Amino acid sequence: MPTVQLGQHAAASQLIVHISDTHYLSEGRALYDRVDTDRTLQRALAQLELTGLQPSAIVLTGDITDRGEPDAYRRVRDQVEIAADRLGATVVWVMGNHDERSAFRTELLREAGTAEPVDRVFDIGGLRIIALDTSVPGFHHGDVSEQQRAWLADVLSSPAELGSILALHHPPVPTPLHLMNILELREQDSLAEVVAGSDIRAILGGHLHYATTGMFAGIPVSVAAATCYTMDLSAPERELTGVDGGQSINLVNVYADQVTHSVVPIGAFKPVSGFNSDFLDRMEELSADERTEAFSRQV
Ligand SMILES: [Fe+2]
Ligand SMILES: [Fe+2]
Repeated sequence: MPTVQLGQHAAASQLIVHISDTHYLSEGRALYDRVDTDRTLQRALAQLELTGLQPSAIVLTGDITDRGEPDAYRRVRDQVEIAADRLGATVVWVMGNHDERSAFRTELLREAGTAEPVDRVFDIGGLRIIALDTSVPGFHHGDVSEQQRAWLADVLSSPAELGSILALHHPPVPTPLHLMNILELREQDSLAEVVAGSDIRAILGGHLHYATTGMFAGIPVSVAAATCYTMDLSAPERELTGVDGGQSINLVNVYADQVTHSVVPIGAFKPVSGFNSDFLDRMEELSADERTEAFSRQV
């Protein structure tokens, strides 16, 4: 971990890991008979542990399972919880359109199963994470009911110490994938009225299966791609083409005055450059001017 500030920004106060669309199936079955959903998620969790980073939360923005099967929930829960325990992170599960509220509650949250929306608030060291259920039972599009909007307005009526992050499945941003517009979050204007001017500093979403960013009611929106399969935006325009490649997760760094969202590809890649920790120690020992000479000046 760095001990000296080398630039203008103090280190992030928190790191949130943003994972989406794991789409697990019962008994470890492959999605579409060929996508190994467990392999990429396990690899992503292993990569996180190798970094030595200490995330305060792991937020999974929905479509945790593909069909709401209880044993699929238990499998993904166990894998994520084991990693989260080792990392010291709180797990925030968010409902998606492929999820089933009752099994989501009983298996992931270990609560009694009900069909009510799964809306939750977490206090992560002063940072408020709000999990909002945008699912509509029986459908794949998203919506936020009037009661949920009233609940959210009430939560937001008092600001949190470090502000809020809103986590939901259906992101309130446009998509160039024509068909996905049918499955968008409905009544976005009504949600915008609730979140505009609040202490929400970022909105985390999923559902699209590709990483993207946008703005909603003046709030930055970041969508994490899926860990299962991704949408190929370079495929012919009128098709919706899922591919077994390009899976990633996002690292969300929460700074005093900004929140950044960084995409981390899942996989083992051969390093082609880098610096060892001795070099970093030396840089930290130098003055700012010496560092500029030693590391910034072109040779
Ligand atoms: Fe999905
Ligand atoms: Fe989805």
